[in-house]
Amino acid sequence: MIKLNIKNAVTENAIKKYSNVVKNIATKMEKLETDGFEYLGWKDLPANYNKIEFKKIKNTVKRLEREKVDTLVVIGIGGSYAGAKAGIEMIQGEFPSKRKMEIIYVGESISSTNLSQKLVYVEDKNFAINVISKSGTTTEPAIAFRMFKKILEKKVGINNASKFIIATTDANRGSLLSMAKENNFTTFSIPDNVGGRFSVLTPVGLFPLAASGVNIDKIMKGALIAHKKYSSIDLEENDAYKYAVARVILSKKLPVELMVQYEPQMKAFNEWWKQLAGESEGKNHKGVFPSSAIFSTDLHSLGQFIQDGSKILYETVLTVAQPNFDVLLEENESNVDNLNYLAGKTISEVNNVAFQATTDAHVKVGKVPNIHIEYERMDELSFGELVIFFERAVAMTAYLLGVNPFNQPGVEVYKQNMFKYLGKPE
Ligand code: PA5
Repeated sequence: MIKLNIKNAVTENAIKKYSNVVKNIATKMEKLETDGFEYLGWKDLPANYNKIEFKKIKNTVKRLEREKVDTLVVIGIGGSYAGAKAGIEMIQGEFPSKRKMEIIYVGESISSTNLSQKLVYVEDKNFAINVISKSGTTTEPAIAFRMFKKILEKKVGINNASKFIIATTDANRGSLLSMAKENNFTTFSIPDNVGGRFSVLTPVGLFPLAASGVNIDKIMKGALIAHKKYSSIDLEENDAYKYAVARVILSKKLPVELMVQYEPQMKAFNEWWKQLAGESEGKNHKGVFPSSAIFSTDLHSLGQFIQDGSKILYETVLTVAQPNFDVLLEENESNVDNLNYLAGKTISEVNNVAFQATTDAHVKVGKVPNIHIEYERMDELSFGELVIFFERAVAMTAYLLGVNPFNQPGVEVYKQNMFKYLGKPE
């Protein structure tokens, strides 16, 4: 269950003033009458995802396991990898005790140093490749695919390599699809009505998640719970839309939203949210700049600025109700570190006190508006719920700001420049 608390940020009365405009937009979204309506397919995925592809995902993971694959190289950029990474790290943590395959992410950068190190890293692994690109033409993943495919062919032989390549792309067009057909790769399709950053609940996210050992049935169950809650057109009942309205009100004076987590394994989740919000809302000189921090770590780098620096930001703090593990602090006879006053408390209780103390400092002394979101656990159910909560909230925020959430004209400028400067033939 997700609990939203906005009392340290905006008043309920200020939120209520948006009831009619939210109802109007939400109704149009349900009737597919909004700008970019042709990309609203993500909102119904929890209730009617493609069961055939879902089964094929599980069967492909089993096949790779039989082939003794221990590493999956996920090649993609932006929405083509951020959601899977967010889910895998949230659920499994930095040092997973159980996992099916290790997941390596490439194609999200063209650093020759980074690529070279990853190429060396997989050399002695039994690896497979999942190349993910909806357009099939993005330069960064295309370069990485060419390089990792070559290493794979060298390792298992040209004729065998296609058994270990899984392509996730558009169902009908693009050069990746043509290559996949020609070479007989296993393919997964990205539905036409779902754009990259809203695609984590399609094979884009679900295949790497399943390969890592995460239970994708439970993710979809969490997503369905959230779907039922956050598809209400009534602002009073819909916390995802309330959060959207709070962001729109706050953004009138504060251009930056800082998403804060107290769990290091939520770092990739922050990155997923930044991409979702930034690319969906930052248009026509509008939108909040999404930034993120992990506390306590960043209390010792950004904490000073948040408390006392220029008044440019508000915080959205996510905390987990039940940690996946906890540790009791025990009494120590010598007490040389003077920590016996904490004996009997658990580490998560101390982390919770850090949250309370920091919130009080930032809100009461620093006058930084603070939205608090609590979710249940770092597990599959909560991941599915959070995905739908934030997708709904970001889409509603964009519509309230008057921009189309589903295009990215700004990103296209650099992509086209790259093609031009590199001399790509027409
Ligand atoms: O959200 C988006 O649409 C983008 O971030 C894309 O996912 C990203 O640009 C990658 O595009 P593609 O999957 O076509 O390679």
